[in-house]
Amino acid sequence: MERTLAIIKPDAVAARHAGRILQRIEDAGFAVRALRMVNLTRGEAEGFYAVHRERPFFASLTAFMSSGPAIVMVLEAPDAIRKWRDLMGATDPGKAVAGTIRKEFGASIERNATHGSDAPETAAFEVGYLFAGVEFAG
Ligand code: CMP
Repeated sequence: MERTLAIIKPDAVAARHAGRILQRIEDAGFAVRALRMVNLTRGEAEGFYAVHRERPFFASLTAFMSSGPAIVMVLEAPDAIRKWRDLMGATDPGKAVAGTIRKEFGASIERNATHGSDAPETAAFEVGYLFAGVEFAG
């Protein structure tokens, strides 16, 4: 079993797509081990995306991620990191294949509906960052 960190981003929460995205997650066979709604501060978003701090989109990304409520969760499944990334589709919704979450719900490379950890080390960091001290259910 493997765990990954998933976020339903502020664009998808504001558009009331969270329920349908959660349905996709459950239909794909993930177990949701922890879930909460958060209003990230700008500083928290900057810490979460610290690996991207030198990128040109960092300021815009962290402003967007702290612009409204998001849903953060820990998903568990065999090969959960790859499986969740496959279900989300490409980072740029314009390049995501039909049937993926970002193709259906994403508007742009920044407002792309969901986030997922990209490797075991990032998953460990991101889960610890957003669920510090939390005991997981199940
Ligand atoms: P995410 O999976 O949350 O990880 C980093 C985010 O940066 C990414 O999704 C995008 O929403 C955002 N982003 C904005 N611009 C770019 C870009 N040009 N390339 C990659 N990611 C970008």
